[in-house]
Amino acid sequence: MSSFRYRPEILEGVPEHLTRHLKQFEDWFILEAAELKKITEHFVNELGKGLTIEGGNIPMNVTWVTSNPPGRESGRYLTLDMGGTNLRVCDVTLSEQKRDFEQTQRKFKLPKEVKSGTAEQLWDFVADRLQVFLEENPSGSQDNISVPLAFTFSFPVDQQNIRSGVLQRWTKKFNVSGVEGEDVVPQLEAALARKNIPVDVVALINDTTGTLIASNYRDPQVKVGSIFSTGTNAAYMEECRLVPKLKEYGLPEDAKVIINTEYGAFDNDRQILPFTPFDHQIDSESLRPGTQLYEKMVSGLYIGEMLRLVMVKLHEEGVLFQGKDITSLRQSNAVDATFLSIAEMDFSEDLSDMREEFEDEFSFSPTVDEMKVCRYLIGLIATRAARLYACGIAAICIKNKTKKCHVGVDGSVFNKYSGFKDRASQGLRDILDWPVGEIDLIALNASEDGSGVGAALAASLALNKVEQIKTTII
Ligand code: BGC
Repeated sequence: MSSFRYRPEILEGVPEHLTRHLKQFEDWFILEAAELKKITEHFVNELGKGLTIEGGNIPMNVTWVTSNPPGRESGRYLTLDMGGTNLRVCDVTLSEQKRDFEQTQRKFKLPKEVKSGTAEQLWDFVADRLQVFLEENPSGSQDNISVPLAFTFSFPVDQQNIRSGVLQRWTKKFNVSGVEGEDVVPQLEAALARKNIPVDVVALINDTTGTLIASNYRDPQVKVGSIFSTGTNAAYMEECRLVPKLKEYGLPEDAKVIINTEYGAFDNDRQILPFTPFDHQIDSESLRPGTQLYEKMVSGLYIGEMLRLVMVKLHEEGVLFQGKDITSLRQSNAVDATFLSIAEMDFSEDLSDMREEFEDEFSFSPTVDEMKVCRYLIGLIATRAARLYACGIAAICIKNKTKKCHVGVDGSVFNKYSGFKDRASQGLRDILDWPVGEIDLIALNASEDGSGVGAALAASLALNKVEQIKTTII
């Protein structure tokens, strides 16, 4: 029996004792077009269910952002972006010149202790870093005038309006006590007040919403905003009449609203995704087993761990790294997504960059043949992630009856992992059956650093709305 389903080029000449187990991994990780189509079909139904009152696995959170910016916004805004890894503070000035802006920003790494401490520690950390930023970047504006601030909070929240949001659950290895089930805006405001920081929180948005707004501002063909990074998710503009859970609000027939899908929670009831034993292990060892199952198969936070588990298994089966001390590789989460990306970018004969990574990170040096096997496994894992990612984007477009559009994608893994975009685009092509020779009808376009301007635009939309309401009442 052959050791492969396909004979991969990278494994030419690699001895049989190193490749004899690979067919099993191909069976686990290779997803053919037919499987992707089935997953996407189920995904479309689940997106629809999330819009109903009864709901489903996918929250489909209403963001209360009801229009895209026309492109002539102006004013100065501060933005805070709390993602999976960093806290980014920006000072954004939108210029009256159509679609133009200036921004100053600074990133602060979110320490592990803050991600798993108490609510007060978290918000004090955020307020403190904002204060540092303001001291470093004095605005020149008069004291006592509050600057509008938009807060990009990249976690699922239930919103009754754009200025509030009750955290549904932490994701991405955050585990701060006292925040789940609470409105995060008053918690942040209390910390800002403790430090007398003169800002006025005017909008709370998700990073996907910010990406959608920012990329649509630059390119009106963008209909979906997505993040592919530590976590994964997407947002799109939906017609309110198609959102049953908005019925009681009596919104105008033609109103639209951005929906933050929170589709990382897709298939939490394990109906369709092809879970491997490694996926089960990653989930069961995670902080919240049974949640974000799609995200755990796709996003940057987990693909490194997937590779680690696979390498350790092959070591234990007597295939890889025999006679080497792999103690450091046995540590949970010892491998991160950049390891995969560096390995795949190493085109040297002797895979010297990859070897350096092994030596620096795990203190052992594999043979070139062993590294070729690892390179092949990395390809399988990363391609599966990209193809599954394509299912979510395809599902939104099918649900929305969009045959042609641009998708603004932000996030370090998408922007830095070369090859990811092509693999995801091939996934879309396989699912949507574009004619041979046709360009990508749904084009995934990098939308780097959209978070600051996206949040500033959301703040400007929110403020304009308040103005409009005031004018109508007067
Ligand atoms: C969060 C989303 C976020 C995504 C990307 C997920 O874990 O639930 O709110 O958009 O990560 O940052």
